[in-house]
Formats: sequence, C-alpha cells, structure tokens
Amino acid sequence: MIYTKEDFGEDFKWGVSTAAYQIEGGYNLDGKGKSVWDVFSNTKGKTFLGQNGNIACDFYHRYAHDIALMSQLNIPNYRFSISWSRITPNGWGAANPKGIEFYNKIIDFCLDLGIEPWITLYHWDLPYELEKKGGWTNRQIINWFSDYVQFCIKTFGNRVKHWIILNEPMVFTGAGYFLGVHAPGKKGLTNFLAAAHHAALCQAEGGRIVRSMLPGSIVGTTFSCSYIEAFRDKKQDILASTRVDALLNRMFVEPLAGMGYPIKDLKLLQRLEPFVKDGDESRLAFDMDFIGVQNYTREVVAWSYLTPLIWAKIIAAKKRNVETTVMNWEVYPECIYQMLHKFNAYKNFNRLIVTENGAAFPDVVIDNKVNDEKRKKYLHEHIAQVLKAKQEGVNVKGYFVWSFTDNFEWAEGYQPRFGLVHVDFQTQQRIVKSSGYWYGKFLQSAALENTVLKN
Ligand code: GAL
Repeated sequence: MIYTKEDFGEDFKWGVSTAAYQIEGGYNLDGKGKSVWDVFSNTKGKTFLGQNGNIACDFYHRYAHDIALMSQLNIPNYRFSISWSRITPNGWGAANPKGIEFYNKIIDFCLDLGIEPWITLYHWDLPYELEKKGGWTNRQIINWFSDYVQFCIKTFGNRVKHWIILNEPMVFTGAGYFLGVHAPGKKGLTNFLAAAHHAALCQAEGGRIVRSMLPGSIVGTTFSCSYIEAFRDKKQDILASTRVDALLNRMFVEPLAGMGYPIKDLKLLQRLEPFVKDGDESRLAFDMDFIGVQNYTREVVAWSYLTPLIWAKIIAAKKRNVETTVMNWEVYPECIYQMLHKFNAYKNFNRLIVTENGAAFPDVVIDNKVNDEKRKKYLHEHIAQVLKAKQEGVNVKGYFVWSFTDNFEWAEGYQPRFGLVHVDFQTQQRIVKSSGYWYGKFLQSAALENTVLKN
C-alpha cells in the first residue's frame, strides 16, 4: 500500500508517546516521593536482572535535548505522563515545587518548539504512600485521584489542551493487583476487582474534572486492546475467546460508555458487586472527547479447564510459528484495523486516537547507526491498516508511536527496545534509528516533499 501523510487529513494528530517512570530517572531527586514502581523495581527478583528505572533515560536532565530531537524529526505532538509523587510526594497534601518546575519546563519547551503537549495523568506510578493505604484497592483513591487531577489542571491547564486520564487500566490492575508481576505486586481476584472498579470510577471522574475546570480542553483516556481470535472454529473456543475479549478489551470501556460491565459474557465480573455502591453505574459513564486505542498484537484463545475463573488460555505466538517481536508478541498488522472498528462501534465518544503502537526488535548499533528495518516495516504496515479503517469510515484522528526513545520496559527491564531513537544506557548517548528518520520524513509536509512509501 502506498500512502502519504496527507491521506489522513490535516486534522490528524501524529505524535510519539512516553511515560514518566520509563524515561525520567531522577527517582529520588529534588524532593520526589517514592512511587510503587520505585519500590517494586528495587525489590529483589521483581524485574528482569533486577533492573530499575532509577536513572532510565535520564530524561529528568536530558529533556531539552530529547524534545529538540523530536522537533528535528518533525514530530508535532508529544504524549508524556506526570509522575504523581514527583509533584505531590505523599500523593496528597503538600506539593513539591521542584517537581512542578520540571513539568513546567517540559511544557514550555515543547510549546516553544511548536510541539503540542498531551499529558497522561496516570501511567502506573502510584505514590507509594498511597499504596501503603491500599492504593487502588481503597475506595478513597477516588478522592486522592480527584485532588491530584484538580491540582494538575490548576497548575498546567493554562498551557495544555490535551489530557489523558488513565493509561491502560486493565494492565495496571491486572498485572499489578491480580498477577502481581507489576507494581505493587499484589495478587488475587479480590484485589483485582476492587482496584478495577475504583480505576473505572476514576477514569470517568477524571474526565468530568478536566472538562468542568478547563472548558475547551480535549479529554480522553486510553485502553490496551488485543484482537482476539478463537484457536479452532469450535463452540468451546469461540466462547472462551468471547470471555477473554470481554476481560481484555471491553471491561473498562463499556462502563465508560454507559453500558455497565460486560457481565453477560464474563460471569466472573458478577463478583464486582461488593465494591459497587449506589449511584456508581451512572458515575462510571462519561462521554470522553476521545478514546486512546493502544494496540500491539492479537491473541489466539482456546478453551481450557486449567483456569477456572475464565476457562480459557492464550496460545502463545511462539507455539504458532508466526513472526514475533522481542516481547514474544505476534506481528499481525490487521489487529489494529480490527480494534479500531471495534472501538468505533461505541457511540458516545467523539473520536479515536491511536495513543500507542510500536514494536521491540533486537536492534544493533553498527558504525553509530541502527538500521531497524523490521520496526520501519511494522510501523508502515500498521499505519496502513489505520488508514484502511479510516477510509472505511472509522473516526480515527491520530496516531502516536510507542515510543520516542528506548526505555525501561517495566518488568522486562531494558532488554525490549521500542524507541525510534536508540539509547545507550551506559553513556546515555542517543542515536536516531532508521525508523526515526523514516517517521520524520513521513511527517514532513507533502508540499515540501512527496513522501511516498512503498511496501
Ligand atoms: C503499554 C504501556 C507502555 C509500554 C508499552 C509496550 O502497555 O502503556 O508503558 O510499556 O505497552 O509494552
């Protein structure tokens, strides 16, 4: 497929995404409080080789260089997150002026260079002081989070128009409170369901706060999603895939859309009931200006008797002999097209934006160059699928690459490299990869240069 940037229309937002804990470092500097990720990744045995985000990409000191590089690559929109415990060390109460100053500098620097800042309010790094009180499992989180959102809007709202409430609630509640493989490392269904319900309430409440305090702002929230297919064309596998789809793709967006939790297709969600209070159903709903779709792969699902809560298992990509990334995720470009169609069917959101898509491949540096053909191909093919969906009437209005630089990939540490820009974590040297130059060229106006990409 051949396409140019202009095929997406002038109002289409192109950008890159990052998250505070994955890039900033400066974990204990200038009055920052600890987050659950500071504690988790500095606990033995929790992450790949015990790696942590204490320094990460040292964005705390190198932000100006990195944002200038973004500008050189013609990237017009930058999505980053605020570290809650950097600006409010205990999660509530006294603010940290140095932390606020840091985000002010990022915002101002972006604006000076003509880059539009998009702020994610919560990308998984809960203040540790709040986790000590139960974190997302404590219903009080609605008050803590609301105060935090109000504070951010008061502090940064005069210069920032685009706001994202949560990053992927399914992942931080599932991996962090059910499986225990992400911070804070809690396990079990009760922890998960409590955290999930409170996150679902916070995403809507956050949306209401932004809209009421900042008329004219554009507010959304993001969801992780994977295209789900049944392993065999058999009733048991099809039903299993419906359950996994309800859990991974529908559990957080449907209450927001005013449809309630998808209990009919996933009975275990009945167990949310003890956490649901009078009036919650309407509180869960909010008509976001946009939904952030975050997609990387598809999952193939079969029935299984070994997993009593969901009676399903995922058939790993490795076992299916398909091309995979360093994350062992299948490369399957059509998945993003399918997910855009799926999310487009929810009626009460104004538009969709792909707020994350990208891939980790084993990059090699030769003569100070990184020729990452696979990533280039991945991005090109996924963007083509976004265009296909758009041409079929899907209301998608943006695409952000995950990620700008290589960074700390949570429990997987520094091994998976997702960046358009390579980072040497010993020296902090940056090298723009071929995919970075390719994206930069693509983002040049077609009037200046007719950027035609061939498959
Ligand atoms: C998303 C997450 C990002 C990043 C990416 C790649 O789930 O929001 O922080 O880690 O996956 O795995």
